[in-house]
Amino acid sequence: MSRIAVIGTGYVGLTTGACFAHIGHDVVCADIDEAKVARLQRGEIPILEAGLDNLVREGVQDGRLTFVVGAARAAANCEFAYLCVPTPQSANGSADLSYIEAAAQQIGPVLPSEAIVVNKSTVPVGSTRVVERALGRSDVAVVSNPEFLREGSAIHDFLNPDRIVIGAEDQAAAVRVQSLYLGITAPVIVTDPASAETIKYAANAFLATKISFINAVAAVCEAVGADIKDVALGMGYDTRIGHEFLKPGPGWGGSCFPKDTRALVRIAEDAGYDFGLLKGVVTVNDEQLSRVAGKIIDIAGGSVAGKRIGVWGLTFKARTDDLRESPSLSVIQHLVAEGAEVRGFDPSSPGPLEGIDVVDDPYAAVEGAEVLAVLTEWDEFRWLDLDKVADLMAARNVVDARNLMDRAAFVRRGFDYRGIGRS
Ligand code: UDX
Repeated sequence: MSRIAVIGTGYVGLTTGACFAHIGHDVVCADIDEAKVARLQRGEIPILEAGLDNLVREGVQDGRLTFVVGAARAAANCEFAYLCVPTPQSANGSADLSYIEAAAQQIGPVLPSEAIVVNKSTVPVGSTRVVERALGRSDVAVVSNPEFLREGSAIHDFLNPDRIVIGAEDQAAAVRVQSLYLGITAPVIVTDPASAETIKYAANAFLATKISFINAVAAVCEAVGADIKDVALGMGYDTRIGHEFLKPGPGWGGSCFPKDTRALVRIAEDAGYDFGLLKGVVTVNDEQLSRVAGKIIDIAGGSVAGKRIGVWGLTFKARTDDLRESPSLSVIQHLVAEGAEVRGFDPSSPGPLEGIDVVDDPYAAVEGAEVLAVLTEWDEFRWLDLDKVADLMAARNVVDARNLMDRAAFVRRGFDYRGIGRS
């Protein structure tokens, strides 16, 4: 069992801390937000993440998981300090390392000798050096151990990873970090820090590429009268391609793909390589948002000005309450700019949002609407009463941007149904 400090209690930090406590370590999580720390100490979870509340409560009750204000307090007595702070996109597309540097500067003076600082935040190649400099400690090794957690299944992903990547100059430090993953069976890739950092960006960029690719093929399907569902299925059975991440939609979003793809374009550019392919992936994604907005405008008769549009799904994907870089919100912005009056419903109950009338009932969202737009793939939308929906709407039009709904059920009720990559 080891003593682990986790700096930052966002999605990554909280999941990392709770899971390390769950497998037996003593974990102290730090955040700068006092109110958040107080809530966490009471076992209240600020985010929607399956299973996280139970794990945090279990850890707090068993005394293996504690929360404190300030990185230095958490790090003073640790063997490992995990940096899990944000690396937002800065104005020029590169990753902003100021939170990482600040955290490293705070813990540098208090870390016990021989402690290991582990970077879990997504950072550009070479950031291990930045952390080393900010720490100012020659007796403390810095190791890169990127996360590959999906929101909505982060606990499952932490405890059942596809792989564990450890990047270290110092092999002994790498072995010590590997030993933290007690009882977790997964291939372990021990490499140098630059390779570990690149693996994270390349994996996210590749996944974004898959989605942009299928969205582009969906556009072709619409043009030639093919059905993307069958096309994706036929492609996915090729084991070299696989079925995952071949679902067309309104484009990818969230806290990772948009910033990581742009950051990798920038990293490549700074290193003298023009990553045209990845630039194209980003462009296809921007176009996809406009294409989906265009479908809604089209089905509304060429203009949404003064018309009510009902939206189901506001988060960037289902089973999360995260609205960051949500494609749904981008599509809505587009519609609002065209004069639409948007009423939105999301099962995660987001608070008020600018430009949208957020309601707490899916039927209220479609009342008087000319178009229903399904923008996030929450499973519960599939079980709603479509007779009631048809009666409430001002016109029978639906744009199903996730190909989630039962097309035949809408058509039977006289709806004009438009999906993505299929008629
Ligand atoms: C992602 C990576 O999957 C994870 O490994 C990394 O550590 C963080 O970024 P996450 O941001 O939780 O995780 O979202 P993910 O499930 O990957 O979805 C990203 C976006 O792609 C969402 O907007 C989602 O709706 C969209 N998507 C995903 C599709 O449009 N089609 C698909 O087939 C899959």
